[in-house]
Amino acid sequence: MTIIETIKERAQALFPRMTEYRRHLHRYPELSFKEYNTAAYIQGILESCHIPYTKGVAGTGIVALMEGKRPEKKCIALRADMDALPITEQNEVPYKSAHEGIMHACGHDVHTACLLGAMQILNGLRDHFEGTVKLIFQPGEEQSPGGASLMIADGVLEQPAVDGIIGLHVYPELPAGYLGFRSGEYMASSDEIFITVKGRGGHAALPHKCIDPIVIAANIIVSLQQLVSRKSNALVPTVLSFGKIQGGHTNNVIPDEVHLEGTLRTFDEPWRQEALQQIRTIAAHTAAAYGGEAVVHFPPGYPSLFNDHGFTKYLQGAAADLLGKEHITELDRRMTAEDFSFYTQQVKGCFFRLGTNKDHTSFTRPVHNASFDVDESAMITGAQAMAYLAYKALEE
Ligand code: NI
Repeated sequence: MTIIETIKERAQALFPRMTEYRRHLHRYPELSFKEYNTAAYIQGILESCHIPYTKGVAGTGIVALMEGKRPEKKCIALRADMDALPITEQNEVPYKSAHEGIMHACGHDVHTACLLGAMQILNGLRDHFEGTVKLIFQPGEEQSPGGASLMIADGVLEQPAVDGIIGLHVYPELPAGYLGFRSGEYMASSDEIFITVKGRGGHAALPHKCIDPIVIAANIIVSLQQLVSRKSNALVPTVLSFGKIQGGHTNNVIPDEVHLEGTLRTFDEPWRQEALQQIRTIAAHTAAAYGGEAVVHFPPGYPSLFNDHGFTKYLQGAAADLLGKEHITELDRRMTAEDFSFYTQQVKGCFFRLGTNKDHTSFTRPVHNASFDVDESAMITGAQAMAYLAYKALEE
């Protein structure tokens, strides 16, 4: 049997087990950086497979090592994120979330189950590859500052030093059995924006005796839209959206404060830093012009995600050998973000998409939606792709 045939047969055989893993994780989701039981569950599986691991990396993260022949030759990392979202699941399925208000609505349960499957495939192939596969089970993808940045600070890319990193993400826009790749720029940077507009409240009939933070906030929002239309290079995609505006209690009282929350997305790192600075300046000066004050706060954001050209093209070719090139699609850039980008700033990386469309209805149930679900057979494709791409990356 060829390596591809072996991997495919093994992935097929592991499907019931991966389904069990995924359904367990789906039923008991945990929020970012609180993946205690999730981590314990993964550790139990690693132990049953006799894979050595380090736990407690960046809190609940786990790093496991699988050595082939000549383990020092090269190290390729495979990464899965583990956290769920603060969403109440609407699906009526046997594996529906048992944790009220928490749901695996971004498929991180699927990512973890695929990596556990790939781990078991590769474990049986250790005589067939040279080098080391590092398995990264990462906490907190959904929450600033991102589990990836914390794991890197904890040394996840060292000892042994990682030569390349591979990750996947569910993708309801593609059917199960398909993969999507894109080399170069793939996902945008993401920065959260918090602005507190401070004025002076009073009677709505006497605005001249007040400093109205509602009118100031309105001006700030409108002025900031011109950052995108007038200040950014039209060839660099940039999005600035405000998703929350909160202030006041009733029709005839001018409040003291208004709170704004928004997000900035772009692809160019120097422009990203400049745009954040300009948001600060425009908000402060607009507020000052009307006698108020704007306090601007940006928590640490995620950089944009760059898939190494050579590495990604090579792995895309390998995926075509595995699944047939009719099952591989080219992806467009996206304005959504992923903390996998922190790894791609340090080492060459390939972040690809796993088709999970279920019953051709998934377009209406995207990720981060209370009705999100997947075609679980996608995990066969996901596990064999992770295993084979790691195998080929070690060979590169
Ligand atoms: Ni996600």
